[in-house]
Amino acid sequence: MDWVEDFYSRTGRWWAEAESGVGDRDRGRVELLHRVCGPDPRRVLELGCGYGSTSAAFAEAGHRVVGVELTDRADHAKAHLERLGPERLRIVRGDFYTVDLRDRFDTVTYWNGFGIGSDADQRRLLRRIAAWLEPDGTALVDVFNPLVWASWHGETELLQANPGRGYHHELQQETVFDPVTSTAVDTWWDAAEPERRITQRLRCYSPADLRLLLEGTGLALAGVLAGGEPVDLAADHTGDAAWLRDHYEYLAVLKPATRSGEDPQGV
Ligand SMILES: C[S@@+](CC[C@H](N)C(=O)[O-])C[C@H]1O[C@@H](n2cnc3c(N)ncnc32)[C@H](O)[C@@H]1O
Repeated sequence: MDWVEDFYSRTGRWWAEAESGVGDRDRGRVELLHRVCGPDPRRVLELGCGYGSTSAAFAEAGHRVVGVELTDRADHAKAHLERLGPERLRIVRGDFYTVDLRDRFDTVTYWNGFGIGSDADQRRLLRRIAAWLEPDGTALVDVFNPLVWASWHGETELLQANPGRGYHHELQQETVFDPVTSTAVDTWWDAAEPERRITQRLRCYSPADLRLLLEGTGLALAGVLAGGEPVDLAADHTGDAAWLRDHYEYLAVLKPATRSGEDPQGV
C-alpha cells in the first residue's frame, strides 16, 4: 500500500479547489444515511474523508462527526471546521488502520475508497469498523463492482482543464483490469508531465464475494443500494444491465453480525 499517500495527496492537489466545498454528492450521501437509518442525529465516523466535505454535510444535517484522513487532503477541511465547530465536526489526520479512537459510533461510513490492499487488509479494516460500531449501529461502505471496472479495461480518457471551476490541470486517465485478482488498475498523469504517472489499485468485490469477505469480521451484509435504490439480494439478477455496465460502485449496508450467524435484518 506504499502508493496510497502519494496518490491521494497528488490527486488532492489537482482537485481540492473544485471539490472541497459541500456539494450535491455530499448531501446525497446524507440522504442515503437518512434513508437507511432515519434522520435522527447520530454519531458518525467517516473513514478516508478526503477534504472533509461529506463530513461537513453530515454535521450540517445535525450529526456529530469525526472524519479520519491519511493525507494532506485533510488540510482543506479547515474552513468546514471553523464554520461548524469542534462539537459537530472533528477531522483526525491519521491512518484508519492504526488511529486510536476511543469513541463508539452509531454509523461508520467509507465512501468511494474501500478495496485498497489485500483481502487481509480489508478484513483488518472491517474488524476495526465492527469494534467502532455500537451494537445496533450501521456501517455504509461503497464497494467497487468488478464487472463495470472490467468493462472499462483499456480505456483512456482526457479530462480538460476548467480553471473557472477550479480544475487547473489537463489530466489523462488509463484504466486496466486484472481479472485474476479482480483489481482495477487506474493510472493518472498531468498532460504537462507525462513521465510522472501515479496508479491506484482497487480490489473489487461482487456482493456475493463481499459476503465471503465479511465472514469472521463481526459484520454482516444487511443490504445493498445501487444507484441510490435498494437491491433485493434474494432476487434473480441474471442479465441485469445496470449491474453489468453502470453501477461502478454500490453501497453495502453492514450491521454487527448476530451470534446465531444469521444475516441481520435487511434495508
Ligand atoms: C478515493 S478517495 C475518496 C475520498 C472521499 N471519501 C470521497 O468520496 O470524496 C479515498 C480517500 O481515502 C483516504 N485513505 C486511503 N487509505 C487511508 C487510510 N489508511 N487511512 C485514512 N485515510 C485513507 C485517501 O487519502 C483518500 O482521501
